[in-house]
Amino acid sequence: MQNSPEKEMSAFAEDVLRGLSGTPKFLSSRYFYDDEGSRLFQEIMRLPEYYPTRCELEIFSEQSDDILRALSPDGAGFDLIELGAGDGSKTAVLVEHFLANAVDLSYSPIDISQQALDNLSATFNARFSTLTVEPLRGDYFSILRSLKKDTGRRKILLFLGSNIGNFDRDASIDFFSQLREVMSDNDLLFIGFDLHKDPRVIAAAYDDPQGVTAAFNLNLLTRINRELGANFDLSKFSHYAVYRPVEKSARSFLISREIQTVKIESLGRTFAFDEWEAVFMEISQKYTLPAISELAVASGFKVSQNFFDSDRYYCDSLWQPN
Ligand code: TRP
Repeated sequence: MQNSPEKEMSAFAEDVLRGLSGTPKFLSSRYFYDDEGSRLFQEIMRLPEYYPTRCELEIFSEQSDDILRALSPDGAGFDLIELGAGDGSKTAVLVEHFLANAVDLSYSPIDISQQALDNLSATFNARFSTLTVEPLRGDYFSILRSLKKDTGRRKILLFLGSNIGNFDRDASIDFFSQLREVMSDNDLLFIGFDLHKDPRVIAAAYDDPQGVTAAFNLNLLTRINRELGANFDLSKFSHYAVYRPVEKSARSFLISREIQTVKIESLGRTFAFDEWEAVFMEISQKYTLPAISELAVASGFKVSQNFFDSDRYYCDSLWQPN
């Protein structure tokens, strides 16, 4: 799956065109992660307000014995396959524990970015000399389909960091159902879910006072300026985030502070923004335990075991094919 830069560029251009022509306007959060976006995201994960990363790390650090027993009750070896590994630092905690328990293990991060895979391989190879690291480049489903042929080893798919929260309900069910199709009956899926809680705690995680989350959102405008030849003036947009406790979803927006027109050269057109017009950026869904079970069943799985941090802010949920 070699994507030419031109092709990626045109997909980006097309998505920006579709989003900014829409009512309401939207931009896809899949384009947040250029170099600067990835750096800002690492910074978000270290913010005091951003609890999910710390919660998941606590679960992996303190319950690694229980997790290992759940992943491999019979002590048999398995292949860990991670969808969207980021810097892999949370997964490394599990891997370290598994290797210390002499598990016959391989680790395969899947990513579209060769750079991300190179970094992960270097980190894991340097830290774990006995681990087999097999990075896989491309899109999740075509890779998983190519792996489906039975190796006789259990595959454990990891989808951590509450990344599923960035999909709406239909897209989540669609995503998990497609995973189910490429999984064997013996394989497992381990997913990070952020739980519904005091709405003030959640709201703060998506709107830190230092403005890192704001910078992370605004960076997409910088990227459009650079890659598509646009003239967004960042000082004329502000980040706005809101948590809706009934729907249990955090949403982020960029708000146009004034009436303005923005030109995007590579689209050959301009876009008009009204005063206070909102551009929808991203959803981050939160869950209850019944909602997690229901999502599992709707996608062809059942919950095998849930793991919580001490505050019960977060849940890593282990699913088996149903
Ligand atoms: N998926 C995580 C979450 O929703 C991480 C994330 C994605 C995020 N985009 C974000 C965190 C924007 C803060 C701001 O929490």
